Amino acid sequence: MGQECGLFIGGHWETPAGAKRFSTINPTNREAVGSFVAGTPADVDRAVAAAAKAFPAWKEMPAPERGAILLEAARRFTQRKEELARIVTREMGKIISEARGDVQESIDFIEYMAGEGRRLAGETIPSELRAKFCLTVRQPKGVVACITPWNFPTAIPNWKMAAALITGNTVVFKPASNTALCGAEVVRTWEQAGLPPGVMNFVTGSGSVVGDALVADPRVRTVSFTGGVEAGRDVYVRGAQGLKMVHLELGGKNPVILMEDADLSLALDGVLFGAFGTSGQRCTATSRLILHEKVHDEFLGMLLERLQRFPVGDPLDPATGMGPVASADQEEKILAYIALGKKEAKLRSGGEKLRGGAYDRGFFIAPTIFETRHGTRISKEEIFGPVLSVLRVRDYAEAVRVANDVDYGLSSSIYTRDVNRAFQAIQDLEAGITYINAPTIGAEVQLPFGGIKNTGNGGREAGSVAIEEFTEIKSVFVDFSSKLQKAQIDTHPGG
Ligand code: UN1
Repeated sequence: MGQECGLFIGGHWETPAGAKRFSTINPTNREAVGSFVAGTPADVDRAVAAAAKAFPAWKEMPAPERGAILLEAARRFTQRKEELARIVTREMGKIISEARGDVQESIDFIEYMAGEGRRLAGETIPSELRAKFCLTVRQPKGVVACITPWNFPTAIPNWKMAAALITGNTVVFKPASNTALCGAEVVRTWEQAGLPPGVMNFVTGSGSVVGDALVADPRVRTVSFTGGVEAGRDVYVRGAQGLKMVHLELGGKNPVILMEDADLSLALDGVLFGAFGTSGQRCTATSRLILHEKVHDEFLGMLLERLQRFPVGDPLDPATGMGPVASADQEEKILAYIALGKKEAKLRSGGEKLRGGAYDRGFFIAPTIFETRHGTRISKEEIFGPVLSVLRVRDYAEAVRVANDVDYGLSSSIYTRDVNRAFQAIQDLEAGITYINAPTIGAEVQLPFGGIKNTGNGGREAGSVAIEEFTEIKSVFVDFSSKLQKAQIDTHPGG
């Protein structure tokens, strides 16, 4: 049955009487990993109540003191890095070096936000009147719900929660159901760091029960959600009923453009990492390769050649380049796109479930390449798997047109040695992130992360702007003139 976990509410791990349970499995071999409570609306109600109760004291605590707790959490995550990375690999299948990266991204961001405890800057702004002082201060929103996906099962919860906590909010965290053990271990690490009871609460269960109850609860003022577009739209609509701030990080269909002057061997490593890292299951994954016609055949040849010896297998083996996909559902969805691709495009590599030996125990799909034309469904819809569409273009203008003609706008990349063209691309590519001579994955935590179009609704995570979604700005006017001064009126005595 795997490791048994409860809910974490008001500082206690508990299993409600008569609770139903669900399990997670290792996508490499289908072995049981953990067993979890299928949370109910009543559990959500108690978790939100605990978060609401803990809020006043947490808000009162000076932000640098909260920062000290975050630093301790970063230290605990560092101590547990290898152990947690192994749990990530076991529960969702990304290769161990990337799982370590996932935990490191948690550590980096928690440290970064700990420093925010000594900033949380407002502004001072001049008044139009004499003897009057104007400033803004940031205040927490209250109870925040963090609903997170399985592909970065430690980093994404920590992006959200570290920003929410440093700004003085309390949290209810609902992890993706197939990485619930990673979620539980994230919470345990924060607990070990000395977070006061009720400041972080943890409810496992389905999106349609636990997620919906969280979004509907009037005490939850902000919902921070990362996941698919359909689920995100649903959360947005439901949140709108309560006039909540809903922060969405959704999909991507991220292009790498390769110009005729690109360094092809540099690009080769980048495209392989971008397309097949995390088995293509990143919102930032490279899912379209837009090749200038002058390098199209040569580069595609190089790519196909390398794929013949691309090691797919046990994600704990350091020699492996790609592990399984995360679940049976993922496998089914990706194989359906591959079947579609075989009808509308030309398969150049992979295109199948891997079988035989250890492959038969898990969800392994061969890294897949289709040569296609712009407009096919596989080249426009998010697949979230190891499937790359290769598109041929005549020139830069066509490359940009193709790159931009999708419903998403998260990450983008161009390989070129022409500095003017690189800057032109920064201006032209419709995306929240642009890389020059690097793949579409690998964002650093001190920069804002997010995108345009269907990728989100305008907010950004990470970077210094991460605190925006979790704070209210209060404008303060201090009049020390000892008389009534009227803005807009006294400034124009003549009318
Ligand atoms: C995601 O896939 O949702 O830039 C996040 C990257 C990682 C984060 C990905 N640092 O690929």
